[in-house]
Formats: sequence, C-alpha cells, structure tokens
Amino acid sequence: MGNFGGFTAASRGLVTLSDGRRAFAKGATNDLTEEWLRAEHHLYTQIHGSFMPQLLGWDESSERPVLLLEDLSRARWPPPWRAGDESLVMAALEELHATPAPPGLSSAEKEFTNSWLDVAEDPLPFLSLRLVSGAWLDAHLAAFEAASRRAVLAGRSLVHLDIRSDNLCLNDGRAMIVDWNWAALGDPAVDAQFWLPSLVLEGGVPPVELEPEYAAWLVGFFAARAGLPMIPDAPGVRSIQLAQLKCVLPWACRLLGVERPDGNSGPRGRV
Ligand SMILES: Nc1ncnc2c1ncn2[C@@H]1O[C@H](COP(=O)(O)OP(=O)(O)OP(=O)(O)O)[C@@H](O)[C@H]1O
Ligand SMILES: [Mg+2]
Repeated sequence: MGNFGGFTAASRGLVTLSDGRRAFAKGATNDLTEEWLRAEHHLYTQIHGSFMPQLLGWDESSERPVLLLEDLSRARWPPPWRAGDESLVMAALEELHATPAPPGLSSAEKEFTNSWLDVAEDPLPFLSLRLVSGAWLDAHLAAFEAASRRAVLAGRSLVHLDIRSDNLCLNDGRAMIVDWNWAALGDPAVDAQFWLPSLVLEGGVPPVELEPEYAAWLVGFFAARAGLPMIPDAPGVRSIQLAQLKCVLPWACRLLGVERPDGNSGPRGRV
C-alpha cells in the first residue's frame, strides 16, 4: 500500500474491490494500530453522515485487519486553506455534534485530563524545548493550570477530538472528516478550539475565537507532550505537537495577559 501521510504507523493505500469500486484501505501494522483501527471501525458501523466517508468493508482475512473506506483521494486536502473552507469545516462539525452518539464511547474529559498537572510534576520535557525558562514557568504555571481547569471538555455531544487538516478534506462543497478512533462524548466547543492552532499554522483563518481557557488547556496539552521521546507507532506526532505549541503558547499568553514566553533560557533556573 502507498503512503498517504498521517501520523501513525498504520499502512494506507488504494485498492480495487471485487465489484470494481475503488476503496481507501487503512491497515493495522501492530497491536496498537490494530486497537485504534478496531475502535475506528466500530465507530463507522455506528454513525453515518455526509461529514464522513462511507464504510465499504472490514477485512480480517490477513494477519492484521484492514478498514476499507470510500476513496477520497480526489478530494482537496488542505493546506492550503481557501476562503470559505473553514466555514465548511464548521458546518461539518455542527452536523457531527448533532448526530446521536452511539453507546459505549469514552468521554473527552477522561481522554484529555488537565496536562498542566503533568507539567508541574515533571517540567523537564517542556523546559527542554527551551521555549520558556524555569523562572517563567515558576511564575506562570499556576495561572495556566487554573485557566485550563475552566476549559469545559465534558458534554453530551459526539466529538471527534482530532480535528486537523490531515484528518479533513473538501469534497463536493462540503468538508469530510476521517480518522475516527478518538471519537468520544464531550462539549461541542472542543473540536473547533483544538483545531485552531494547527489551522493558524497552516495559514487558515480561525472561524471562531480561541477562548482563553481552551488556549491554556492546549498549551498544557502540548507542553506536557512535545518534549517527550518519539512514539515509535506515531513517529510524526512530536514535531506537530511542538509546532502547535510554538503557535499557541504566545497566543495564550496574550489572551491570559501573561508575560510573553522568554525562550532559550533553558531548564537551569528550575532544576
Ligand atoms: N477515505 C480516504 N480516502 C483517501 N485518502 C484518505 C482517506 N482517509 C484518509 N486518507 C489519507 O490518509 C491519511 C491518513 O489517514 P488517517 O488520518 O485515517 O490515518 P492516521 O492519521 O494514521 O490515523 P490513526 O491515528 O487512526 O492511525 C490522511 O491524512 C489522508 O491523507
Ligand atoms: Mg490522521
């Protein structure tokens, strides 16, 4: 199978089904990607909507399962973002959030805890990135942690929890969303809020304002992760986390009225 990008070690490519239709095939390559793929397949059996590709099959005949989806390779996968794309994504999110959630889903607040507690416990991965000094972190961690706690994640809506351009395409005048293994119950605001840092990085125009408490939450999320060792099953993840952190950190400081990140002073001040 060819390589379609994406951030995990799942294999992906195009195949022709016995009835002649083309399908996008996403195959598990190890236990972890198999677990994610099974979760994703389960979701495709439970929900349907114009905001997601059709499920065309599930093949367990080989050593690892393969998920077969409507082929969207001719759709437009941003970036670049064109005028109006962002509103199409918002319309798709609205449709998604209004879709009845299937039973048995996890919840956004359970999947995504307040990561500032992790940063407080072990600040070195964040400080090793040299975006802020130990003194900066000492001075502002409490404000970020408190703001982050006010970000509402819990809710009753079906949410995707991984909205980013690599999981979105524009097809026939509507946005379609792929990569469903994180779908959960949550507050509908989380999908658009979590999307904003990557959208801005790619030159897109935010269709909604970033709220200070979600900004604080996002900085914590990326700060707790971007400096950790690479994940072998998802080798591209740390660099995209770092890019989003660099984007959202100064943004959040502005929104919270906190001193700008002081960069490059390293971890020495704190250890
Ligand atoms: N139905 C589809 N048709 C065409 N291309 C697709 C389709 N689904 C995904 N892709 C392409 O493959 C890439 C990876 O797919 P996907 O996001 O589902 O995998 P992933 O990021 O590796 O996911 P996971 O985190 O579940 O392992 C997408 O970024 C997109 O370029
Ligand atoms: Mg993906």
